[in-house]
Amino acid sequence: MCGIIGYVGGKPAVPFLLEGLRRMEYRGYDSAGVAVLHDGALGDCRAAGKIARLEAALNTTPVTGSCGIGHTRWATHGPPVERNAHPHRSQDGTVAVVHNGIIENANALRVLLQGKGYQFRSDTDTEVVAHLVQELMNGSLEEAVLAALREVEGTYGLAIVSSRDPGKIVAARKGSPLLVGIGDGEHFLASDASAILAHTRQVVYLHDGDVAVIEAGGYRVLDASAAPRTPKVDRIEWDQAAIERGGYPHFMLKEIFEQPQTVENTMRGRLIVEDGTSKLGGLNLSHEQLMAIDNVIITACGTSWHSALIGEMMIEEWCRLPVEVEYASEFRYKNPIVGPNTLCIVISQSGETADTLAAMREAKRRGARTLGLVNVVGSTIAREDDGGVYLHAGPEIGVASTKAFTSQVVALALFALKLARKRGMSVTRGMEIARALHALPAQIQDVLDRSEQVEHIAEEFKRAPNFLYLGRGANFPVALEGALKLKEISYIHAEGYPAAEMKHGPIALIDEMMPVVFVAPHDAVFDKVVSNIQEVKARKGTVIAITSRGEPALDGLVDYEFRIPETVDLLMPVLASVPLQLLAYYIAVKRGSNVDQPRNLAKSVTVE
Ligand code: G6P
Repeated sequence: MCGIIGYVGGKPAVPFLLEGLRRMEYRGYDSAGVAVLHDGALGDCRAAGKIARLEAALNTTPVTGSCGIGHTRWATHGPPVERNAHPHRSQDGTVAVVHNGIIENANALRVLLQGKGYQFRSDTDTEVVAHLVQELMNGSLEEAVLAALREVEGTYGLAIVSSRDPGKIVAARKGSPLLVGIGDGEHFLASDASAILAHTRQVVYLHDGDVAVIEAGGYRVLDASAAPRTPKVDRIEWDQAAIERGGYPHFMLKEIFEQPQTVENTMRGRLIVEDGTSKLGGLNLSHEQLMAIDNVIITACGTSWHSALIGEMMIEEWCRLPVEVEYASEFRYKNPIVGPNTLCIVISQSGETADTLAAMREAKRRGARTLGLVNVVGSTIAREDDGGVYLHAGPEIGVASTKAFTSQVVALALFALKLARKRGMSVTRGMEIARALHALPAQIQDVLDRSEQVEHIAEEFKRAPNFLYLGRGANFPVALEGALKLKEISYIHAEGYPAAEMKHGPIALIDEMMPVVFVAPHDAVFDKVVSNIQEVKARKGTVIAITSRGEPALDGLVDYEFRIPETVDLLMPVLASVPLQLLAYYIAVKRGSNVDQPRNLAKSVTVE
């Protein structure tokens, strides 16, 4: 997804801008560009494709100066070609704009500006902002930006420079994250903290409605009514090394192998094995409020939605409360039934997914209490929810989510366990689940220690054009997640299905060319799954089974087998998903895919 970077200080801006853009590459993008002020004039350079192409273009036509903005674009309006890359310039060339988000009334503004003689050079919604600022520039840049924003509807993170008011960057935020980095005689702007971490740890997170004026010697934050606001300065505690690959060939593999620690971190200080419960400091829910919950809605997108399906089973089974799981993009436009005792759990790795944020705001508007399960500290969802459980999985860089998923399932288990114990689960049962949670990190390590077995299976199937993933109960969402991982990074078509439902359609696809991955650990529905495996074998399908012990019932039935350790049924997904992450990873590497930045995908989808 798009990234914004800005620099104003005493040094050349371009090397800083390029470095910052590179640090945001993991977010996914398809073109990039910079604009820099020098001697009262604006220079810019843009290129379709990777940042290396922008750098090559800059070598040919250098741009100098010490106040500039940069952008990586992930196409929404118009194809990923140079003319649509940011920064966009105003008609007279005096204003340059980079933008994340969507200007919803861009068409109306375009017609209006064309009527005034402005000519458009791109297909983007962003270009209207550049012309509008030029049109309204009658004093300082910030006044023109504030006036322009009064005309604009939609979402934005904006960074704007102008040769008519040089030496400053004006930034604005509504619905798209931006932060100001504080340096000594220099200041920074970024949409993502990782972009500036090498230069400062002191940051100001902008709020929706804020406009910031950033200069070498200082910065000011104005609220939506243009009144100065005294911002809170936060300190970023992340370690730079934590966002680098640490010796692994890809971030995704590093993140898969980090899971014993990340799952441990999710539970640290929270799991109370001896009482069979958990302690979650950020819930902001009193004992009375927890007891009064009538129903739960869980909303999320992508991989986070898969963890929601597992959370649903935990809360229904352990707490005996009705739960609905909704895609955030669907929930926000429904007319959902939400009461004062509805708890809405919002799951998001990034805490910035536009649909998930909108769904949370909709649930709040309708009177639900919201609880965010979020990984990125200080993200918008984390700031706006009523209570929260941070995942503490550390920065996830690989576009395909792995460690955030297992931490989400564990965080859901911690919450469901706490709620269940309050609502009648016995201490004995609570302790059984707590002990099982406690054992997970070592069990994940056991799976990872045998990763070469999965690599061997990947070698056998790297050329398969299709895959089917089947599971039942808590392992049906695991099948969905396994299929999603494979298609995201290897571009192999893969479908996840409830194993028995296969008979109602996908069975027609099965022949000797179709690998079928069964997520079949020894759980309450194991015998049923064996029948489903027989159905596949009867049609000559090739079976890869993720199971948990030597099962005579599987003898002669499965072609490949990987065993995971045993745990309580509803925690099996934490262990079963790891070999599927590895399978997707190894197949993608063997097919030569760009594992960390798969085509067309973004790490954080901050547009609708
Ligand atoms: C994108 C990412 C997925 C992620 C989904 C939801 O599609 O590529 O990996 O699961 O967004 O993101 P969130 O940050 O809200 O969990």
